[in-house]
Amino acid sequence: MKALKLTFAALCLTAAMCQADEVPPPEHVKWMKDLGAQMGAIRKGADVEKNATDMQATLKLVGAWWKGRNSEVAMNSCRESFKGAAAIAKAGDDKAAIAAEMKLVGAGCKGCHDAHRVKISDTENKIK
Ligand code: HEC
Repeated sequence: MKALKLTFAALCLTAAMCQADEVPPPEHVKWMKDLGAQMGAIRKGADVEKNATDMQATLKLVGAWWKGRNSEVAMNSCRESFKGAAAIAKAGDDKAAIAAEMKLVGAGCKGCHDAHRVKISDTENKIK
């Protein structure tokens, strides 16, 4: 039994999957809620340029936070969403362009969520 426990501990040292999911810091949760609100507003066509500009600022903060965490997926996802938001901010009234760029924004959100978001409940998320 003792040997078994030791083996398991050794496995956990090498396998990242044994790490417990992290409670996100409050600023991370706030950025995510901001991104959600910005996304919703752009979808509705409300203050599109301002929300797309704010989204870029939020994504910069998110990117800076993830930079030290060694995740290529996270960094690429931030970049993808950022590119989409930058294009939307310049799209003016071109609804087709906005819709196309929203796909890029959404792909970035999804890319990072698939890799790093753990849904605990409808109101609680963790970071993996
Ligand atoms: C670099 C990774 C990353 C990117 C990019 C990212 N997210 Fe998140 N998101 C997370 C993680 C991790 C969580 C779970 C932890 C948390 O809630 O802070 C999360 C949680 C959320 C939540 C739930 C927040 C809550 O607790 O109420 C929303 C809403 C959200 N993200 C929206 C977005 C939107 C919209 C985008 C794209 C514009 C986006 N996210 C891009 C990593 C990311």
